[in-house]
Parts: sequence; structure tokens; C-alpha cells
Amino acid sequence: MTNEQSASARQAPVTVVGLGPMGLALAGALRGRGHRTTVWNRTPGKADRLVATGVRRAATVAEAVSASPVTIMCLKDYETMYEVFGSAGDALRGRVLVNLNSGTPKEAHAAAGWAAERGVSYLDGAIMVPPPMVGHPGSVFLYSGSREVFDEHRPTLASMGDPRYLGSDPGLAVLYNTALLEMMYATINGYLHATAMAGSAGVPAVEFAELAIGWFLPAVLGPMLAEEAPVLDKGEYPGDLGTLEMNLNALDHIARTAQEQGVQTDQPRLMREIAARAIADGHGGKNYLAVFEVFKHQAR
Ligand SMILES: NC(=O)c1ccc[n+]([C@@H]2O[C@H](COP(=O)([O-])OP(=O)(O)OC[C@H]3O[C@@H](n4cnc5c(N)ncnc54)[C@H](OP(=O)(O)O)[C@@H]3O)[C@@H](O)[C@H]2O)c1
Repeated sequence: MTNEQSASARQAPVTVVGLGPMGLALAGALRGRGHRTTVWNRTPGKADRLVATGVRRAATVAEAVSASPVTIMCLKDYETMYEVFGSAGDALRGRVLVNLNSGTPKEAHAAAGWAAERGVSYLDGAIMVPPPMVGHPGSVFLYSGSREVFDEHRPTLASMGDPRYLGSDPGLAVLYNTALLEMMYATINGYLHATAMAGSAGVPAVEFAELAIGWFLPAVLGPMLAEEAPVLDKGEYPGDLGTLEMNLNALDHIARTAQEQGVQTDQPRLMREIAARAIADGHGGKNYLAVFEVFKHQAR
């Protein structure tokens, strides 16, 4: 038995549904940890590179779900989940579905009810790191819902990052996710707007970052933003690891969560509007930092 074969024998088979930048990272990490990994995506060609590393590509969602006891889904949102798994018929019955896309607590509760009606063991979750950090032991993944499902499948979940269980209310993972992301977006927006203010006097972003990041920014975002400062000066924002469209979706979930939870909504709505403006200006396929293009000019 080769080393890879013996690792595979220890690890549970797993299916990943959804191969955007995040789903690709999840499947790659699981395969890398020796799980027999099966994938399905609406656009099948996105699995080509994974297939070359030994990942199996299923032709249908039903075939993908039937290949493993656990299916990890990472789609755009909950609506997409119903669309995709609606075609799976009875294949999900008796299996475990772990939902890692973003959404609101209300949507998570509805999904847990939908799963229960179909005899599916359901765990809701959220990913707190970008795709390149998936698979690192310190990368936080939040989970809520069935404690039994979490405990039983913890080793599989640990192959993607550090699994944290928040409680039996299935809405808690997305609630924490939207709260933490709100903090992240507000911090990045503050930094980008301040960089545009300094830029109005001809100060390059690289120069401003040298002072601003050391003076204020927290340890997690600081190094990332310092590395990206030359990107701001160039005005190039590649979207290969996550697009502004994807971030607008997350900002929409934050604004809707604030509404659902009965807290003030102006702050998240404003951030959503700024991202929507950047998309209307043609930056939808670029990464989130492209909102800098909005901050550099007066509102029209
Ligand atoms: N990227 C990040 O940095 C990041 C970080 C943390 C969490 N997340 C979360 O992870 C989830 C996935 O994000 P992502 O960046 O991978 O990309 P995304 O653009 O949010 O989602 C892309 C995935 O959804 C599928 N999809 C969209 N509409 C569909 C439909 N109508 N029918 C079937 N499939 C559909 C896409 O299929 P096709 O390939 O066929 O288009 C693709 O598999 C999101 O909920 C996001 O909030 C992302």
C-alpha cells in the first residue's frame, strides 16, 4: 500500500458540490488530506484540474451525493442549494449535508427544516478565510446545528480547517459569519477611503500604507492590505480568488441579517450600495478592493 492509499483508507469519502474559487479550494484540501473526493458543478469544466489530481467528477448531483456519506456544499447562496439539490431526488435521504455558503439565519433555519423533511442530517456552516487559507489547521470554520453530526464528522471537517461548533441553533454560524464579515468590510472600507483621501494630494497607496497599517490596522488584515497596496496604485484587482459579485452577495446577507435580527440597517446597507456602485461601474469580476475606484471620485 502506498502512503497515499493508506491515508485514503483512514479518511472518509467526501463529496463537494459547487466549484467556485472556494469549492475548488475545499475539494483540493480534502483530496490533499487523502479523502476519496467526488465533485459536481453546474459548469463541469471547472473540475478539470481537480480530476487531474485524482478527484472524481460526477455527472449528476444524485451521483455525486451517492458517492459519499457526507456532502459539503459551497454554492452561491441558499436559493441555489434548492435549485441544485432539487434534482437529486431521493439520493440525499440518510446522508449528511454540510452547507458552507453564506446567507442569513432565517435561510439557515429554513434549510435545516427542508433537510429534516427529506431525512437528511444537516449541519450549517461558514468559512472565515479566503480560498488560499483553506486546509491550514488554524483557519476557522464555523458550524451550528446538529451536535451529533458535528462530532461524528469532525475529522472530515478538520481536513478543511479548524472546526468551531457554536451551538444547536442552525442559524448561529451564518449569524456569526455576517457579524464578523461586517467588521471586516467596514475596516477595509475605512482604510480604502482614507487611502483615497491621501491619494487626493498625490500620496501613493504604498506610501500611505506604510504609516496607516502600522498605526491602526489589526494583525489579521494589516499584512494582507500592506501586500495589496501596490495593487491600489496600479488599479488592477484580479478576481480569481473571489469576485466583487460574490462580495455583494455577502454584503446583501449582512444587510438582510441586520433586518431579520431587528438591529439598525444603515451601516450594512451603505456598504452594500458602495459595492453595487463598483459593480455598476464595470468591476463585478474583480476582487473586493476594486471599491477603491468608487472611493477615488465624488459620487455622481
Ligand atoms: N471566495 C471567498 O473568498 C469566500 C470566502 C468565504 C466564504 N465564501 C462563500 O463561499 C460560497 C461560494 O463562494 P465562491 O467564491 O466559491 O463563488 P460564488 O460565485 O459565490 O459561487 C459560485 C458557485 O455557485 C454556483 N452557482 C451559482 N449559481 C448557480 C445556479 N443557479 N445553479 C447551480 N450552481 C450555481 C457556481 O456554479 P458555476 O461554476 O457553474 O457558475 C459555483 O459553483 C459563497 O457563499 C461565499 O460567500 C467565499
